[in-house]
Amino acid sequence: MKNILIITAHPSSHNVTKGIAEIYREEKEKQGAKVEILDLYRSKQLPFLSFEDANSPKEEGLKPYQQMIADTDEIVFAYPFWWGTMPAILKNWIDSVLTRGFAFEYNEKGRPVGLLQGKSVRIFSTCGAPRWLYLLNGIDRANRKIWKQTIVEFCGMKFEGYHLYGGIDTSGKSIDKVFGDVRKIAKG
Ligand SMILES: Cc1cc2nc3c(=O)[nH]c(=O)nc-3n(C[C@H](O)[C@H](O)[C@H](O)COP(=O)(O)O)c2cc1C
Repeated sequence: MKNILIITAHPSSHNVTKGIAEIYREEKEKQGAKVEILDLYRSKQLPFLSFEDANSPKEEGLKPYQQMIADTDEIVFAYPFWWGTMPAILKNWIDSVLTRGFAFEYNEKGRPVGLLQGKSVRIFSTCGAPRWLYLLNGIDRANRKIWKQTIVEFCGMKFEGYHLYGGIDTSGKSIDKVFGDVRKIAKG
């Protein structure tokens, strides 16, 4: 059975990315997967990463989160687009949980080696601006690249896709379109 971990990061419990997470879960459960949603705003908060913890993590609070990653086959991130990127709570979670020795290591030549092989990652995000704006100015591409190269592939995982949905605050109609698209992606 496939295990999927969906990570959300929104202060309100009624939001579009929560809807995205629920739809993805519904479709994947129909396919027989075991799906867990980790809502970072309603989970144990991790302190900001210290210099010492970056290389040799002592913070006990991150262990249960690393276990969740170890136990899963697919990780899905679903979050609102804030100031051109992910919310700080999610960034801090990534800083703290994807530690050296767990998510990556350096080989004898000093090159990074991803340790999370066999897992895949998909990213969903929503923003207020129309998506064409971020396609035109390169910000969509920059975010996709950051996720793909500096996070997902750096840790040895497979990048499945980055999906940014625009114009979210303004039109209920576009939200139905978003949910339809997420359902299609989850169906595969
Ligand atoms: C702190 C903050 C920063 C934001 N930054 C951006 C931004 O850089 N670009 C953008 O298009 N929308 C931005 N937004 C709008 C959110 O992306 C938008 O409200 C959200 O995706 C809508 O989904 P929701 O109703 O589930 O929150 C920001 C919103 C907040 C609260």
